[in-house]
Amino acid sequence: MISRNDPCWCGSQKKWKKCHFPIKSEDRSSEYKKKYGIILKTQEQIAKIRESSQVAAFILDKLCQAAQEGITTNELDRLARELHKKSKAIPAPLGYGHPPFPKSICTSLNEVICHGIPDDRPLQKGDIINIDVTSIVDGYYGDCSRMVMIGEVSEEKKRVVEVSYQCLMRSIEICCPGTKILEIGNLIESYAHQHGCSVVNQFVGHGVGLFFHEPPQIPHHYNHMNIEMIPGMVFTIEPMINAGMREAVIDPHDQWTARTKDGLPSAQWEHTIVITENGHEILTQIV
Ligand code: MF3
Ligand code: CO
Ligand code: CO
Repeated sequence: MISRNDPCWCGSQKKWKKCHFPIKSEDRSSEYKKKYGIILKTQEQIAKIRESSQVAAFILDKLCQAAQEGITTNELDRLARELHKKSKAIPAPLGYGHPPFPKSICTSLNEVICHGIPDDRPLQKGDIINIDVTSIVDGYYGDCSRMVMIGEVSEEKKRVVEVSYQCLMRSIEICCPGTKILEIGNLIESYAHQHGCSVVNQFVGHGVGLFFHEPPQIPHHYNHMNIEMIPGMVFTIEPMINAGMREAVIDPHDQWTARTKDGLPSAQWEHTIVITENGHEILTQIV
């Protein structure tokens, strides 16, 4: 029987407790895998996901600084590719899914809810844009997004940007061992409604780390996901908040771009978080 302070079985020469020690007892790990398909991460895996998350957050920060009037989203995409290369990272969106996503980041403007594809349209005063970066470093994934307002924007746009930010940060705040997944969506939808906004239910947050999208789904709307958070769970929260109706329509031509059905603005912010013994850590917060 290997004990916590023995060298890890993987040959890393680190102590087992600092390496492949399961963050919760084996039975919790296999229970979560069997019941929900959730892969609880070891301390070593969390350290790697922290790295990829920090790279994603750093690149996102640079892109948000570059997102100013006149720059095209294709230029932001090119900058994202350069920054990934410099960081020895791979942009996860490129070639992902069916049909393969054609660019390295998602850029979702105004009425676009998510999965917007960079193109040659320059950013204009009054635009709001979501930039979504997912970086793979040494096989591990970190996923985050933010909004940028270009010049003076309408009150309606300011409202969705602020409400979606509050929805993300307030829901992260309640994440700790014992909190149920359903509490995230309950908090978000009730907050959004109180502020005159709707919550998209056709897209959800997700487990992340070893793959781009892992179980569980993290709904941002009212739901009954009766799964308790436990240490070692790594997932995103990424509420998409609309000024008008919640319905999304996917572009039939590119099969990616999701727009609001009524053409009113939408906003989204995203972090990757890990549940710890005492609460949570925001892995994509720049430290
Ligand atoms: N980054 C998005 C998310 O938060 C997923 C984008 S899929 C892509 O889950 F193919 F469009 F990149
Ligand atoms: Co995500
Ligand atoms: Co994302």
